[in-house]
Amino acid sequence: MAHVLVIESSARSEGSVSHHLVDSFISARRANHPSDTFTLRNLAVDQVPHLDADLLGGWMKPVDQQSAAEQAALERSNLLTEELLAADVLVLAAPMYNFGIPSTLKAWLDHVLRAGVTFKYTETGPQGLLSGKRAYVLTARGGIYSGSPQDHQEPYLRQVLGFVGIHDVSFIHAEGLNLGEEFMKRGLNEAQARLAEAI
Ligand SMILES: Cc1cc2nc3c(=O)[nH]c(=O)nc-3n(C[C@H](O)[C@H](O)[C@H](O)COP(=O)(O)O)c2cc1C
Repeated sequence: MAHVLVIESSARSEGSVSHHLVDSFISARRANHPSDTFTLRNLAVDQVPHLDADLLGGWMKPVDQQSAAEQAALERSNLLTEELLAADVLVLAAPMYNFGIPSTLKAWLDHVLRAGVTFKYTETGPQGLLSGKRAYVLTARGGIYSGSPQDHQEPYLRQVLGFVGIHDVSFIHAEGLNLGEEFMKRGLNEAQARLAEAI
């Protein structure tokens, strides 16, 4: 049995391809691993604040020196981090926005990349603390970027996931979605086939 944390970041409430891939992922997991449990977090619905002075204060100061605002910011950040710590499997669903990941997903990453919690500094450099977890990244893209220098999503997400110790990562890209019907159908079919293989 595995606990799966799904983080969605499409701003669309309808017609989201990355959301569609999440639905397919969950159906396949339920079929192949019936005892899995899921936590779903949609960053467009439950917005995560950007890093601010309150959160940095909450992270840096001892509890008895924190203001009420710093404590509240810390609690919200702790909740997000605890959800990640509790997961065996992480699913990040990410549209491509302006060549990168949505700013909502970046904000979530800023909360959960936590020194002393998800990674630590050692004499030999930083060390990820989340070893043993598996991740899937489901992207939706208007154009086609896979394997090209214009793909700023996959290298970045590999870097940050690796930084916290998650090295077992499958990327499933639905690409060419805005290039006309033929490309869109091909992009969706290829992503579904890859998803079925990867789960
Ligand atoms: C604000 C915005 C920026 C976008 N930027 C890009 C981009 O840089 N490259 C690209 O290929 N597609 C881009 N797209 C298209 C989306 O990646 C595509 O529509 C994708 O299906 C969105 O994911 P979703 O269907 O899960 O909402 C952009 C779409 C929006 C709304």
